Amino acid sequence: MKEKKEENLMDKIVSLCKRRGFVYPNAEIYGGFAGFWDYGPYGLAMKNNIKQLWWKMFVTDREDMYGVDASLITKQDVLQASGHVSGFSDPLADGSRFNTMFRTSVGAGEDSQIAYLRPETAQGIFTNFKNVVDSFHPKLPFGIAQIGKAFRNEIAPRDFIFRLRELEQMEVEYFIYEKEWEASFEMWQKTIWKWIEEIGIDKDKTHELEVADGERAHYSKRTIDFEFDFPFGRKELYGLAYRTDFDLKNHQTSSGVDLSYFDESSHTGAQNRIIPHVIEPSLGIERTMLAILSSAYTEDILGDEPRVYLKLKSSIAPIKVAVFPLLKNKPELVAKAREIYLILKKEHNAVVFDDNGNIGKRYRRQDEIGTPYCVTIDFDTLTDDTVTVRDRDNGKQERVRIEELVKYIKI
Ligand code: GAP
Repeated sequence: MKEKKEENLMDKIVSLCKRRGFVYPNAEIYGGFAGFWDYGPYGLAMKNNIKQLWWKMFVTDREDMYGVDASLITKQDVLQASGHVSGFSDPLADGSRFNTMFRTSVGAGEDSQIAYLRPETAQGIFTNFKNVVDSFHPKLPFGIAQIGKAFRNEIAPRDFIFRLRELEQMEVEYFIYEKEWEASFEMWQKTIWKWIEEIGIDKDKTHELEVADGERAHYSKRTIDFEFDFPFGRKELYGLAYRTDFDLKNHQTSSGVDLSYFDESSHTGAQNRIIPHVIEPSLGIERTMLAILSSAYTEDILGDEPRVYLKLKSSIAPIKVAVFPLLKNKPELVAKAREIYLILKKEHNAVVFDDNGNIGKRYRRQDEIGTPYCVTIDFDTLTDDTVTVRDRDNGKQERVRIEELVKYIKI
């Protein structure tokens, strides 16, 4: 019974996302394209909010992080050294293995060379390790962060935006002394839990899984998967891995370039060149979005009518405030509403003006996209300079003075 209900929930989320402009099937007019999805205005806004919050928590709020933005198309040498050319494969039904990287060729004719769309953002970090060290001379431990697309030719893409062929990752490679790996692993584990709480993923539906020997990626000595109870079952949301010195060491050997780090703190002559070890928190953006949507989707009865709303944190909601004139055909109401809309827009950016359809429909539309506040301008506004502010979660309305409105709407 529960399973059926949950299956149903997935259909409802997919349908809401399409109807309300969050997520569209890619190339839909040509029948769609498995594993590829496009983002409409609200999905794009939500993704941008996720990325901004991640960058703030994982990069700019810290003092030990450096951002990079590397190429998506990756030279074959890089992925040979990292083990992806030989090892990044899935078994096929007949027992053979299928490399899930998208292969392409760069350049024309005899000069062309094989390359790949990157399967993770991580390698663009490792290949820039020396550049960042040479430019910034960071002290260990420090991290390099990147947000960007990754591509995997998944044999069986499925479950909406859960298993994709084109995805986006938010990754940190955190460079440490080997002896500090356990403490550092724990620090990132805590950070991921803090993140989960901050963006509104249901903590009770999130679980840690210690990935067993033999099941970890080829580079990892310890991995925890953060799993989430998606409507289609408990599945991986994020990964936290101890990658040892695997990547830097292999890139050093394959490229012939010294990638060691000069450790000034040890003062022991030649021995103070070390290859740092790495802890890697790796977070997929689309799985984040799906876990947030699954956590936020709510049905209740309001004013005797069933309704659907997304209980999104205001930091994640694509629209923060909607402003309505009570009636569309009263120019004085519309003018006042426009005035208030512009005040709020200056402050909160993601503000919409809506005079389409009756007021009840407008509220429901905003509920469905998770807008935390709706401000309505009515006839009283014209005489007493107050507006109604409606709270998404309980539907309650309060009269607020216009001059206090900006302060009242806490986002
Ligand atoms: N750099 C490490 C790495 O890429 P991974 O476990 O293969 O590790 C990390 O991927 C995260 O990227 C996953 O936990 C998930 O959030 C996301 N991810 C991976 N493959 C995905 C896919 N096919 N579709 C959507 N998200 C995916």
